[in-house]
Amino acid sequence: MNAEITALQDQLHQLQQSGQSAIAAAPSLEQLEQLRIEYLGKKGQLSQILRGMGRLSAADRPAVGNLANEVKDQLQGFLEQRQTELKNAALAAQLASETLDVTMPGSYWPAGRAHPITSTQDRILDIFVGLGYTVVRGPEIETDYYNFEALNFLPDHPARDMQDTLYLPTGQLLRTHTSTVQVRYMETHQPPVRIVVPGRVYRRDTVDATHSAVFHQVEILTVARGITFTDLKGTIKAFLRELYGDVDLRFRASYFPFTEPSAEVDLSWRGRWLEVLGCGMVDPNVLKAVGYDPEVYTGFAAGLGVERLAMHLYGLDDIRRLYTSDLRFLQQF
Ligand code: DAH
Repeated sequence: MNAEITALQDQLHQLQQSGQSAIAAAPSLEQLEQLRIEYLGKKGQLSQILRGMGRLSAADRPAVGNLANEVKDQLQGFLEQRQTELKNAALAAQLASETLDVTMPGSYWPAGRAHPITSTQDRILDIFVGLGYTVVRGPEIETDYYNFEALNFLPDHPARDMQDTLYLPTGQLLRTHTSTVQVRYMETHQPPVRIVVPGRVYRRDTVDATHSAVFHQVEILTVARGITFTDLKGTIKAFLRELYGDVDLRFRASYFPFTEPSAEVDLSWRGRWLEVLGCGMVDPNVLKAVGYDPEVYTGFAAGLGVERLAMHLYGLDDIRRLYTSDLRFLQQF
């Protein structure tokens, strides 16, 4: 065999061996690509060896050419194998670094809860919704018409002083009661009416254990043919029984411009009576103001003080506790 052939074959064997170990040791995909270029690229080592084939006779060339192809195939195989290894290792590393340990203790977020005024209001609404009432709301900034006039408060009538009113520079006022929504609703709806109206109301009141300048009411209104005082009493009693179970209460005759006859309901509280709601049969003048015929329709209405009911429900001694946002107090509910 000619020395030229043997020399080229030796070079090819060396290339195969050095390539195999370099590829097996390649630490990254980038470095593997460098090796591919270095060994198999156009200007790589294999090409350089093959250039030496020019010196061989045509008859001798296959002996070197076949080996060169073999070496090339082998190196290509090693490159692919190493590439797969490196890709798998990268994937395994990513999975390991992104794994969540679901057994680790979580971070604690204390759960909030409804304020006692909110939960009392919601209980009241739930009961009336259960009796077939629809929840309706209205604005807190009102006109004299909706707060007084349409509710049969005559101009300069002393009844206006029953509710010390906060007036705005615009001549509007902060509603002193939710009865305003009775008028607003009836103006835009025909009987039968059965609504329950939660809302904030405002009075120029001196704050004490049972009074606050801002407080919450729930108004109810029923208007249809044939509604009587018996319906009013039955509804109020059913409501209070649902809210409190067995409770000591009394109906006391009273006066409101927008109801005739009128009553207030007191609950027994800490050895005395606590007024919790006003009610009565809707005055014919109110029905007339919204265009209802009082000869055809009658109705009853009531306004409930949410704070007063909450005080009774939770045994509170002072309404002001409800507004202090003291968590030690609020967390009891
Ligand atoms: N609006 C009255 C108040 O704030 C409460 C009231 C009394 C509402 C009698 C009514 C009612 O609907 O019929 O003092």
